[in-house]
Amino acid sequence: MSDKVVLAYSGGLDTSVAVRWLKEKYDLDVIAVCVDVGNERDFSVVQQKALDVGAIKSLVIDAKDSYVSDYVFPALQADAIYEGEYPLATALARPLMARLLVNIARQEGASAVAHGCTGKGNDQVRFDVSFNALAPDLGVITPAREWGMTRQETIKYAERYGIPLPVTVASPYSIDEALWGRAIECGVLEDPWVEPPEEVFTWTKSPSEAPSEPGYVEISFEKGIPVTIDGQRLAGVGLIQRLNELAGEHGVGRIDHIENRLVGIKSREVYEAPAAVVLLQAHLDLELLTLSRDQLRFKQRVAQVYADLIYNGLWFSALRQDLAAYVRSSQRFVTGTVRLKLFRGSSIVVGRKSPFSLYKYGLATYDKGDEFDQSASTGFIHLWGLPVRTQAQAQPIIDKAEGS
Ligand code: ARG
Repeated sequence: MSDKVVLAYSGGLDTSVAVRWLKEKYDLDVIAVCVDVGNERDFSVVQQKALDVGAIKSLVIDAKDSYVSDYVFPALQADAIYEGEYPLATALARPLMARLLVNIARQEGASAVAHGCTGKGNDQVRFDVSFNALAPDLGVITPAREWGMTRQETIKYAERYGIPLPVTVASPYSIDEALWGRAIECGVLEDPWVEPPEEVFTWTKSPSEAPSEPGYVEISFEKGIPVTIDGQRLAGVGLIQRLNELAGEHGVGRIDHIENRLVGIKSREVYEAPAAVVLLQAHLDLELLTLSRDQLRFKQRVAQVYADLIYNGLWFSALRQDLAAYVRSSQRFVTGTVRLKLFRGSSIVVGRKSPFSLYKYGLATYDKGDEFDQSASTGFIHLWGLPVRTQAQAQPIIDKAEGS
């Protein structure tokens, strides 16, 4: 009897060819696992296809709940956005997939796990680092990185073994979907000067065809977790689905990012992430209302480190776990409601409220009811400016641009 390998299976060309290749090259029986993180796909077709191309077992796992509550929401609480642009949908799904594959490898007594990532991307890093952290004893096999076939050769291989070519082979784009966002790569997008053609977008309306009246949405958070939309309580998965539709209808959530991959390549990435864009914006706004300046400044720095850790495949690192504890603590009073206006591709916050708001009308107002003691500012500024005053007297100020 052959040893078994658990393969992360998407139903696409590479992972279908991998099923066969793993048998030919390593004499391994393949257990195909397709993880549903909110990809728009017919999973029964994918499941059957794995068997058709030679897997001894084919599983589809609905991991949407775990994806949202264990990965997406912690990242939202952290305000994690890679390079200020990318909400990290794909990057957040990979450690979850790795964990599920390891669990199945244990149940099935498999000796290895495998994925179909190429050697140029980030996903290979996320899978491999996660596998090694969770199960250092399991072998990791990476067919697409090892076989050295071009796209054309892969297609030939498929034809030779009667592996049906997916219709997507006709499409020039490579697409990866999860509830938190959709990534589109390849084809004309590889020229960073070329505007993404309308056809690459499926979750968002073109802003020019979006409704001519703005839409409003109210999102309530409890401790940094979104819990209601327009007063209706929804579990995480449903809430994100609802917002993807709502904001997508108004053309909100398109992102065009020249992105720094971990392996050193700059790549042009196009995303659609309507719910992510709106939720990250709303969440940060609520933090502006409920966190102190010092908390906000510190948290911003953590957000950047956190986003890099997610992007760079270090979800299971101790540092990521430490930061998660800090982030959780920071969310104690991030409870309240944010109101946004969605209009033709833009979303802006137009209102916010919280039982823990640090905004005090009596301090902010210029009308009667002002409680701020303006006379106290004189002494405050006297000391605040003391070091600047002292230094300016001892050391002349340079206040002209160099060369002028
Ligand atoms: N650039 C994004 C990332 O690294 C999206 C990658 C999409 N993945 C894919 N296999 N097509 O997270």
